[in-house]
Amino acid sequence: MRGKLFLLSIAVAVAAYFFGPKCVKKFFQSALGQNETVDNVHIRIFTKDNLALYKGDNNGDVYLALAGYVFDVTKGRKHYGPGGGYEFFAGIDGSKAYVTGQFDKDGLTDDISELSPAEVLGLENWKAFYEKDYKLIGKVEGAFFDKDGKELPMMQLYKKKLKQALLEKDLIENDKKLFPPCNSEWSQNSGGRVWCSTRSGGVARDWVGVPRMFYSAGSSQPRCACIRTTGPPSHDPESTNHKNRGDLDNPNLNRYANCEEMSESCPLPQNN
Ligand code: HEM
Repeated sequence: MRGKLFLLSIAVAVAAYFFGPKCVKKFFQSALGQNETVDNVHIRIFTKDNLALYKGDNNGDVYLALAGYVFDVTKGRKHYGPGGGYEFFAGIDGSKAYVTGQFDKDGLTDDISELSPAEVLGLENWKAFYEKDYKLIGKVEGAFFDKDGKELPMMQLYKKKLKQALLEKDLIENDKKLFPPCNSEWSQNSGGRVWCSTRSGGVARDWVGVPRMFYSAGSSQPRCACIRTTGPPSHDPESTNHKNRGDLDNPNLNRYANCEEMSESCPLPQNN
C-alpha cells in the first residue's frame, strides 16, 4: 500500500510539473536548485506610482530601477535614502542619468533612445553592479516592460546598442592585439621618442615590431603602433604565398620621418 501511495505521489508531482500552473514548475525548479536567469524568474511587476512609494521615507524600504529592472537597495540607504547623495535615483527608473550625470527631472528618465552604444554599455555595467551588490526584485512598467513584464521596443533598442558596443569593444581589443601601442617618452633635452618592446601597449607577445603611425578604422588621428615585420599579414593569416613582411605593407601605416625602416625606436619631431 505504501509503495502504491509513493508511486501515486510521484505521478501527481510529475503531472503538476508538466501540466500545472507556472508557479508549481518554479517551485520544483528552485527546490532542485536549477539556475534561473533574470528573465525567467517570476518577479513582481511595479507600476511607476507603486515604485515611487519606495523612496525610503519613514525608514521604509528603498527601491530603484535600472533598464526596467527593480532592485532593493535598502541596505544602501545612506546613498539612496532621504538626504543621501543619490536619493534622486530612489523610487524611479532614471536609467539615462547613470551615464549622462544629468540628475534633474529631464535627465532622470527611462528613455535611453538617445544614448550611444558605449553609453548603453556603461548602463549595462551599472546593472551588473546592482545585480551583484543588491537584490533584483521586479520589473517596472515603463519604457522597457509593459504591465505584464513583456519587453517593449526600448528593451530591443537597449540590446541592439549593447551588442553593437560589445562588437566595437572586440574590434578595438583585436586591433590592439594585432597593432600594439608603442612605448613613448619625451624629454626637454632629447625631445620625444617612440619605441617597441615585447610588452609595449600592455600586449605581451613574442615579437617586438617597429613603430609606425597607424590610422585605425573610425579614428581621425593616427596612433603609434608596433608593427610585426615577419610572417603573413594579419588580414590573411593562413596565406602561404606572402612576402614574410608581417603587417609592414598595411596601407593604413605611415613611416616616421628620420627613422630607419626596421628601427625599433624612432625619434619624434620636436613639435610632437
Ligand atoms: C554620472 C556620474 C555618477 C553617477 C551616476 C554616480 C552614481 C553613484 C552611485 C549610484 C553610488 C552608490 C553606489 C552604491 O550603491 O554603493 C555612488 C557612490 C559614490 N560616488 Fe558616485 N556617481 C557619479 C559620479 C561621481 C563622481 C564624479 C564622484 C566623485 C567626485 C563620485 C563619488 C562617489 C563616492 C565617493 C561614492 C561612495 C560613497 C560612499 O560609499 O559613501 N561619484 N555613485
